[in-house]
Amino acid sequence: MAGVFRHFAHWGATIYDGGLHTGKSTRICMPASRITKKMAEPAYPSLFDGCELRLSTWIDETRRRAQRQSKADTSTVIEIPAQTLTRLDKATLTNLCHTVIQSGFAVYGWDNEPENIPGALSEMLKQLSLQGGDSGVMREHGDLSLLQDLTGTPRGRFPPYQPAAMNWHTDGYYNAQDQSIRCFTLHCVEAAAQGGALRLMDDTFLVLALHDENPELVKLLSHPEAMTLPHNRDKEGHDRPDRTLPMIFQHEDGAIAIRFTTRSQNIAWHCEATKAAAKRAHELIDANPHWQTRINLKKGQGVITRNVLHTREQFIDRAGYPKRQILRGRFTQLPQPELASQFTYPSDDHNHAVR
Ligand SMILES: [Fe+2]
Repeated sequence: MAGVFRHFAHWGATIYDGGLHTGKSTRICMPASRITKKMAEPAYPSLFDGCELRLSTWIDETRRRAQRQSKADTSTVIEIPAQTLTRLDKATLTNLCHTVIQSGFAVYGWDNEPENIPGALSEMLKQLSLQGGDSGVMREHGDLSLLQDLTGTPRGRFPPYQPAAMNWHTDGYYNAQDQSIRCFTLHCVEAAAQGGALRLMDDTFLVLALHDENPELVKLLSHPEAMTLPHNRDKEGHDRPDRTLPMIFQHEDGAIAIRFTTRSQNIAWHCEATKAAAKRAHELIDANPHWQTRINLKKGQGVITRNVLHTREQFIDRAGYPKRQILRGRFTQLPQPELASQFTYPSDDHNHAVR
């Protein structure tokens, strides 16, 4: 793991104390530069707290990855023989993990269909330390949810169970900080007769684009109270209170991440400037199609991601064809080989060779 995260290792978390809450009706938009030790909790990402060397290192590294992504061959599929699913070889594990960390996602393909697909997939994910899953979503197969068109059923009110297109988002954007989704996986059990392709974009590239345009945009969206997402209670067992969160934040290991949704009509923004910054973030995604990869998973293929920004195109199930079925996993940890200490990762200079 040390090799993968070496860029982040020196980013310690900066914890501020004190409160900034001014009450919903009288919120004041406060420039990040005025947040002091006494005023904010938890904190702006320490990456943006004024250490120029740390920030310029992150910018250089992210820009390098963004430039590589613009030129990358995004059609690479990591082939996995089905008979090895219970014991992936070291090279495959390393390749999958390194590709996810460096490129944001890895596409794999099984050469055969195992009898028990959810079981085989769970076994494969377990070897990447992906188990436990997000308890905030409905799951049918252990850690996995079977996504399909369930229009007309109680579950069909949720977008993943509808055939309509889904706009840019990161998974679990409404989750509390300690339940942040670091990784989601999608495995295609059956492809749709038409449509259903994914589009993916590394969320750190969006943070970079915002910073390049105006660092104040990043500060606004990193505000600990940048957005308040409305509660959700229903008969399916969801019971989520109103949640106030930053859009851009930093994980404990120092990795910068973004919570994103375009379903912003119900979001209470910290102030008008924050709302405008969020709108600009959406525009910057659309303005950078060269950072986006479109993938239409075939039966037996899947994607493992760093919970990057993504969309899903509308899909159509047709009579006479199998219904689209996708097994989804959501995890609060990044993929890494179960026995990480036994692995040596390639240097970043060579990382593009794995995609
Ligand atoms: Fe999603």
